This record gives sequence, structure tokens and C-alpha cells, in this order.
Amino acid sequence: MKVPLLDLKTQYASIKSEVDRSVAEVFESQQFILGPKVEQLERNIAAYSNCSYGIGVSSGTDALLACLMAEDIGPGDEIITTPYTFFATAAAISRLGATPVFVDIDPATYNIDVDLIEAKVTSKTRGIIAVHLYGQMADMDAVTRIVRAHNLFVIEDAAQAIGAEYKSIRAGSIGDYGCFSFFPSKNLGGAGDGGMIVTSDAEKADKLRCLRSHGSKPKYYHRIVGGNFRLDALQAAVVSAKLPHLDDWTAARQRNAERYDRLFSQTGLPIGLPRVVTNRHIFNQYVIRVSSRDELQTFLQKKEVGNEIYYPVPLHLQECFAYLGHRAGDFVESERAAKETLALPIYPELSDEQAQYVVACVREFFSQRKSIETFGKASTKRGA
Ligand SMILES: Cc1ncc(COP(=O)(O)O)c(C=O)c1O
Repeated sequence: MKVPLLDLKTQYASIKSEVDRSVAEVFESQQFILGPKVEQLERNIAAYSNCSYGIGVSSGTDALLACLMAEDIGPGDEIITTPYTFFATAAAISRLGATPVFVDIDPATYNIDVDLIEAKVTSKTRGIIAVHLYGQMADMDAVTRIVRAHNLFVIEDAAQAIGAEYKSIRAGSIGDYGCFSFFPSKNLGGAGDGGMIVTSDAEKADKLRCLRSHGSKPKYYHRIVGGNFRLDALQAAVVSAKLPHLDDWTAARQRNAERYDRLFSQTGLPIGLPRVVTNRHIFNQYVIRVSSRDELQTFLQKKEVGNEIYYPVPLHLQECFAYLGHRAGDFVESERAAKETLALPIYPELSDEQAQYVVACVREFFSQRKSIETFGKASTKRGA
């Protein structure tokens, strides 16, 4: 059996007529940049996220960048985030000449350890990017308490967490801004790059709309320097066709996670399973923890079980951030997570048989290791 990490072909087959119709409408209109398809998606994602405004942008990366630009972030400013996230989170800060200030993660959730934030707040701190990793929201009560006390802004990096909830509050609606990604592997993926910012602040929404079109308002009059961060109508068409299915897909991912939890618990193997501490984890990824992660990955690859390491090198140890002066040991939980975590297939269409196969392969890996260890010990004894 072969189990891919993600099966977008099966998903497309199930909604082909809806996607094709929505895309055809864009071709009929010949309106490819922004326009009614994008505006409709902006309204729908804002409503889905319980926010007043949606601003369609070119990617999740540009969503983060535009929000920081909206806050006039630049050299001398510090933004707090974690080193255990996709590169784009810290890159957006660095690209503007500001300093990413890292705070380690809570090993149970992989999200920012809120008890460590305040020690990193200085007179230069302007905001926090709270990442909702793997589809589970960070501890937003604590984050909100800190930003209020220090007059900071919060960007929710909800690239992996559309529709996730913390105490029944939707991702993107707690911070000043929420950023989503429509990268194809996300729970709500487009047919290329795309993203969305949500906010309930009319002024911020206005500035973001201006920034995504080179800071022009009206056209060809530029009060500020922005970028080309516009969302293509074709991406909006694909994402719009998928949005009505998102809750069913999320429910399927949650069922798949529960099944893995059950099956893995029954094995009694030394595997760390995802900890759900919020009321709605949307499982963009199902990530397990094992001490022999690299060997398990090689084994699963041989068995044709899709898997991925998110992320093998924490950001403070990336070459491009050497100028920050960090070294190994600075953020121990992030470093440990980078060595021990492995994402397994969790996509909505994953069948019971496929999930059983994944667990059986993991079990086989451990039983082979055990017999090798036992054999090794026995032969050492014999040799002694
Ligand atoms: C946590 C996080 N932030 C930001 C991004 C950037 O999104 P995009 O790939 O759409 O630029 C991603 C996507 O991979 C992500 O997972």
C-alpha cells in the first residue's frame, strides 16, 4: 500500500464541477486581478473568521509582511515570535529591517510558551506574531494580557489554522490581524499561492488594501510605499469553491486524528501524540514525537508512507539569522522538537485501511528496532 502525505487529486475529483465552474466564471469575466471573485471571498473568509474585513493577498508570507508594514515596522523595532515555525514568520520581520526576538515553545503544543514572553519585552518591542502551529491556536488569553500591558499589537499567524478556535473564538479574530495562507497543502488551499488578512478595524483594513496595491489610493497616487500583494481572481475562484467544504474536511481530519490517537495508544509504543488543549484543533498536521525520528522517517519512506519534518532547523539556527547571534541550546524545546517531530498523513480522504497501515508500519519499525537491540545486547553478552 502507498499512503501519500496529502491527496489533492482525490479532493479535486470530489469537487471538480464546482471548482471548474468557479474558474470558468473568471475566464468569462476576464477580470484576473482583484475584482468581484476576490471581494466575495474576502467577505466569506471574514465572516468565517468572525471578523469585519478580509483583504485578499498574494500569499501567507505577504499577509504577514503587509501587516507589519501597516504598523510601520522597520529598523530598531523588535517583534516577538517563536523559532519553531515556517520561515516566513520571522523572515517578514527581518525583511523590514526589524529584529525577530525569539521565545521558545511549549513542548506540549509547539506554540509560543507564554510564560517566557514578558522577559523578552523591551522598550523596542512593538508587537507579537503568535503562530498557531499545525492547526491549534496559541494561548491567546495570555498573549492578549501581555500586549495590553505593554501596548503592543498582535498578528495571528494562522496560516495553518483557518477555522481553528481558542475558547470558541475563531483564529484571526483575537489579534489586531489574522493571516491565512492558501498554499495548496493548507486545509483551504488554492491552485497556487494566495493568502488573506482578516481584521475588524476599518482603518487597518483600508491601509492594508492600499499597501497591497503599491500603496496607491487613488490609482497612481502613492502616499506610502507598498507592494504588489494582490490576490489573483483565479485563486479566489478555487478557494471560494472549496470553502463550503472546509468544515466537513476539518471534521474528517479531526476524526482521523482521533483514530490515530486510539490506534497508537493501543500499541503502547513510546510515541508522543498531539496534545489538544483548545476546543477546535483543525489538524493541518498530525505530528508525532519519537526519539528515533530520522530512522523512523527512512523506514516510512521505504514503506511508501508519506511524512514530513516540520521543521528540521529552528529559525534561530538558520544561516541567514546568524547575525542575531544565537547558538544551539538557546531554545531547547524548539531544538528538541526539530529533532523529534514527524508529520503523518492526516488529509480528510485518508481511509481507515490507510491509517491502519500507517500505524502498522510505525509498529513494525519499533518491533524491528527492539529485536535489533535485543540481538545486540545478546551478542554483546556472548562476546563478553
Ligand atoms: C506558519 C506559517 N506562516 C506563514 C506561512 C506562509 O504562507 P505562504 O506559503 O502562503 O506564503 C506558512 C505557509 O507555509 C506557514 O505555515
